[in-house]
Amino acid sequence: MKAQLINDVKNRYVEAYGVEPLLIFSPGRINIIGEHTDYNDGFVFPAAVDKGIAAAIQKSDSGLSSAHALDMDSRIEFQLDKLKPRAEGSWENYVLGVVAEIQNRNKVVGDFNIIFRGDIPSGAGMSSSAALENSVVFGLNELFDLGLSKQDMILISQKAEHNYVGVKCGIMDQYASMFGKKNHALLLDCRTVKSKPYEIDFKDHQLMLINTNVKHSLSDSAYNDRRSACESIAELLGVKALRDATLIDLEGVRAEVTPENYQKALYVIQENNRAVMASKAIEDGDLVALGKLIYGSHDGLSKQYKVSCEELDFLVEQAKMNNQVLGARMMGGGFGGCTINLIEKSATEAFADTVSQAYQKAFGKACSIYFIELSDGTHIVH
Ligand code: GLA
Repeated sequence: MKAQLINDVKNRYVEAYGVEPLLIFSPGRINIIGEHTDYNDGFVFPAAVDKGIAAAIQKSDSGLSSAHALDMDSRIEFQLDKLKPRAEGSWENYVLGVVAEIQNRNKVVGDFNIIFRGDIPSGAGMSSSAALENSVVFGLNELFDLGLSKQDMILISQKAEHNYVGVKCGIMDQYASMFGKKNHALLLDCRTVKSKPYEIDFKDHQLMLINTNVKHSLSDSAYNDRRSACESIAELLGVKALRDATLIDLEGVRAEVTPENYQKALYVIQENNRAVMASKAIEDGDLVALGKLIYGSHDGLSKQYKVSCEELDFLVEQAKMNNQVLGARMMGGGFGGCTINLIEKSATEAFADTVSQAYQKAFGKACSIYFIELSDGTHIVH
């Protein structure tokens, strides 16, 4: 699939502009555990996957720049000195936002054309947006010798999301997409923005994604609201971020916060602990313990942090009824997208069948099943 995507964008580029483009592949990500902890300076446990964005990019001498989203059959032209955000929810903001944030760092970008396409289902909680942002910044850095490090590039991608897309996201998605490592997941400390790679070999178990096909939209204020609730409780506690707070600290201010916000902060502190415990479980090869932590994460996301939805909860309930599934939870920002399941290899087919039928019956629509491979981060394709 990856080779196909790359060929597509390459051929289209040569057809349209008659020159050989630079080719970039930028992956989406999964997250084993540690959800909504990144913007609380906490721990997350993501991995880049073999699905992503393929981009073909090259300098333009037409006096204009352009971006073409092949999958949407949508192309825009723009002037680099007149950038501003477009309509909320449009794909253009991911591209324009990155260019604008590079300019904000006083780096000079010349005109360029980019053509891209991808195979990450949008709104699936697999970070198609971070993959796109990273492909743009990576390509421009290369083309115009901007001298940006990978660390600079992910901060630019994140800022694009904040200022052009309007989602005050953490750093997990951009980090995982850029720094991913084949067959590894990364225990990322979102305060230091440094990670420790863990080789993932679950022996007779594996990860399986089930997409509700309910598209989440993070620009919904729901995401930003939660972030600011967390920040205000951290402030009340006199700590830099909730990552620094203990359960005892939180008890101390319980009377001063709403019960809803208390639950949200409680969730963040617990989830941060779960992410660290999960890395220990993986080190020990204790998949039963890992599975329990994953189920615990979903419980918290659904009941305390309130970012799940009926369809996600249903899929997790289906998993719980099957004792060959050790753990399942919603993944990513929430309100739709995928669940991630830790399942016995021999059980995947039967479970996929059962879940698909049950889901169809319950919601009158299909879910989709994905098997993924953990892969390298954003890179040039030769
Ligand atoms: C989205 C954001 C990330 C992270 C997750 C939730 O994917 O982009 O920064 O906050 O939601 O863990």
